[in-house]
Amino acid sequence: MTAPLVPRPSPFQHFGEWFEAARMTDPQPEAAALATVGADGQPSNRLVLVRQWDVRGFEVFTNLRSRKAQEIGEQPRVALTFHWKGAGPARGGRQVRIEGVAEPVSAAESDAYWAARPRGSRISAIASDQSEPIESREALLAKRDALEQRHAEGEDVPRPAHWGGYRIVPLRVEFWQHEDDRYHRRLLYIRSRAGAPWSTAILQP
Ligand SMILES: Cc1cc2nc3c(=O)[nH]c(=O)nc-3n(C[C@H](O)[C@H](O)[C@H](O)COP(=O)(O)O)c2cc1C
Repeated sequence: MTAPLVPRPSPFQHFGEWFEAARMTDPQPEAAALATVGADGQPSNRLVLVRQWDVRGFEVFTNLRSRKAQEIGEQPRVALTFHWKGAGPARGGRQVRIEGVAEPVSAAESDAYWAARPRGSRISAIASDQSEPIESREALLAKRDALEQRHAEGEDVPRPAHWGGYRIVPLRVEFWQHEDDRYHRRLLYIRSRAGAPWSTAILQP
């Protein structure tokens, strides 16, 4: 048996405790699956890195012309799911399911994150028209080489307007803890809108 899932004052506090535990056991605890929905109702899902989070929400950075960004533009309701293999009190694995609304972060926040990226990642973010087809890998690497030449070593590589972050403002956060015989523990935090108080419920596994 693992420890009971006792509600914290907010899911952010709970997430913080679990994230710290996941850092001890998982090589990339910030990886999460981000689900969006197309205008035709088709869901799509991909892994992203949740670079920062606080009581406002969970931040991801991407190409703002990508498929995911186009879908968010049409339907900002998204879902984000973490899974950690865990150990000790988290043995058997943990899952955190977040549902909410994606909103763009400020230009200043995107600038700050861009500034922290290594040069190669900045160049590749510009070289890649993310989600668009290209005739060959060589064509992509040629775009990279042209950009490398345009931005001399040591020179600033400015953030393009089409690269930035979204903050996923949660309305529903579920903490799932593996338990023997599939009597998994599930604790749901839910609120009607950002800023409203959270209520909690235990869900059957
Ligand atoms: C572990 C992992 C982390 C990733 N992190 C990001 C990320 O933070 N931002 C991003 O745009 N793509 C990230 N990707 C690539 C995405 O999964 C995806 O291929 C890309 O964003 C294009 O998705 P889209 O065409 O649906 O927009 C990551 C992939 C993996 C496997």
